[in-house]
Amino acid sequence: MEMEIREYRPEDEAEWMRVHAIILSISHAWNYSIQERPLYEGHESTKLVAVADGKIVGLTDTQYENEPGEFCFLKDSKGGYVLEFGRLPDFSGHNIGKLLIDATVEDAKRKDFHRLEYWTQDRSAQRYYQRIGMKEIGRHYRFRMRATPEFNEIAVKDYFGIEYIYAICMPEEWPLIKQKYDILTKHPLEPHLCIGYEIRF
Ligand SMILES: CC(C)(COP(=O)(O)OP(=O)(O)OC[C@H]1O[C@@H](n2cnc3c(N)ncnc32)[C@H](O)[C@@H]1OP(=O)(O)O)[C@@H](O)C(=O)NCCC(=O)NCCS
Repeated sequence: MEMEIREYRPEDEAEWMRVHAIILSISHAWNYSIQERPLYEGHESTKLVAVADGKIVGLTDTQYENEPGEFCFLKDSKGGYVLEFGRLPDFSGHNIGKLLIDATVEDAKRKDFHRLEYWTQDRSAQRYYQRIGMKEIGRHYRFRMRATPEFNEIAVKDYFGIEYIYAICMPEEWPLIKQKYDILTKHPLEPHLCIGYEIRF
């Protein structure tokens, strides 16, 4: 099978959205579904697709910071934050992930960026990043909880309601938070451990 990594083109949009939707349905790679292709206006970006026999089978997008710490976790230099990364489930075993990562690294270098951050809540992707030797840079829990009377009191004062609170905490606080608060545990609102990895070049 001929595999090509090339830049995303505007005419790829509808196919890109379909591939994205399939990857979304079989992974915990993203927090929410999207109906519009992200554009990263006001920032440099690398947008690549993997193409096999004329069809898009994988994708990756990286947005670069204008200032260190704008959206990356590490703040020592301006970095690239990888927002989209995956391939269709039928195309495992072709090393598409690594081809997309390597091509992103080459483009980042051309743009004078020298580090990338990959954050994921998907446990399989976490194992994959470890397997290919990426360095862990941080982890936290992301969870949703019902509002306590104190939160509801604030909301009621200003005439709004709280459906749930979407929150983040460090792993060491998680056992206590689970005990103290009413955490939503049913899919698709269940808690996830999110782990960040980086590559420098
Ligand atoms: C992450 C992802 C792109 C990797 O896919 P891929 O590049 O096609 O991986 P391959 O099947 O070709 O495997 C390549 C190598 O990685 C290993 N590997 C693949 N998935 C793995 C996993 N979940 N855990 C550990 N190792 C894994 C394979 O064993 C193989 O190793 P080898 O070269 O020694 O044989 C793919 O799993 C994916 O798209 N996942 C869904 C979306 C997602 O979670 N994205 C990241 C979140 S932000």
